Amino acid sequence: MRKTILITGSTDGIGLATARLLAAQGHQVLLHGRSESKLADAQKLVAEAQDGSQTECYLADLSNLEEVMNLAQTIREKHEVLDVLINNAGICRTSTPITPDGLDVRFVVNTLAPYLLTKQLIPLMNASGRIINLSSAAQSPVDNKALTGQTHLTDEFAAYAQSKLAITMWSRTLAESLGEAGPVVIAVNPGSMLGSKMVQEGFGVAGGDIGIGAEILTRAALSDEFADATGRYFDNDAGRFSSPHLDAQDPEKCRRVEQTVESMLAKFSL
Ligand SMILES: NC(=O)c1ccc[n+]([C@@H]2O[C@H](COP(=O)([O-])OP(=O)(O)OC[C@H]3O[C@@H](n4cnc5c(N)ncnc54)[C@H](OP(=O)(O)O)[C@@H]3O)[C@@H](O)[C@H]2O)c1
Repeated sequence: MRKTILITGSTDGIGLATARLLAAQGHQVLLHGRSESKLADAQKLVAEAQDGSQTECYLADLSNLEEVMNLAQTIREKHEVLDVLINNAGICRTSTPITPDGLDVRFVVNTLAPYLLTKQLIPLMNASGRIINLSSAAQSPVDNKALTGQTHLTDEFAAYAQSKLAITMWSRTLAESLGEAGPVVIAVNPGSMLGSKMVQEGFGVAGGDIGIGAEILTRAALSDEFADATGRYFDNDAGRFSSPHLDAQDPEKCRRVEQTVESMLAKFSL
């Protein structure tokens, strides 16, 4: 059955490769990016795999939460059902690490924006829907003051690893609160050091085959093995469901991170 699948950050790297795979299987892929020209290029590439009329493009800078709200509203206006949401967009190294609101852009793009987008789009999703959140092998304990912008981390990898543990933690709490009636929520480490722009710019190495990440995201989006996996963490370095960082196994710590995220997003009435 043809599914409608939104992939954030599908202008490059793993997101773009996943869009091509899913489009080639006949699914309707909603492409998202922050650059109009990269979105147009991505749409052309995806159209090579499939009739271009089945893709749609959505422009939004996820470091701006008002744009996240507008993105969600536009999708709600155009679609009654969303089958799969892949929260793939992510950032590590950047020349503008702090947003105008004083927040670390890694926390905004990698943790807050996907939470807000997900909450806004859940009404379009049913129990067979899937929310796939991009985690990472890099997971470090979340410093609440850094998350809320009261202090700033000088190490970009520390900020990235904290933002990735934070999304892994709220994936679990969201799965619990949605229960069986809601879509499945799964955190996925797509594989480490896959050769995307993020890895090449961050580590100065070519990196591995991006297709490894695209293949696991496609499986997470569609295959039966993920249908009952809500709240779980899939580690593609190990090739199996696994345990995330200890903090993501601690219900109380997970709830605290989710409460902080909720309070930071309170003005958007989730
Ligand atoms: N590559 C790996 O080995 C690896 C390992 C673990 C986890 N991951 C995760 O996998 C996901 C995909 O990463 P990747 O490796 O494919 O990196 P990438 O090639 O840099 O792709 C990141 C995507 O996110 C988009 N993006 C970044 N900041 C954005 C913003 N402010 N607003 C909207 N879109 C934004 C990028 O848009 P532009 O095209 O405009 O830059 C791009 O489409 C990320 O969540 C990453 O953390 C990757």
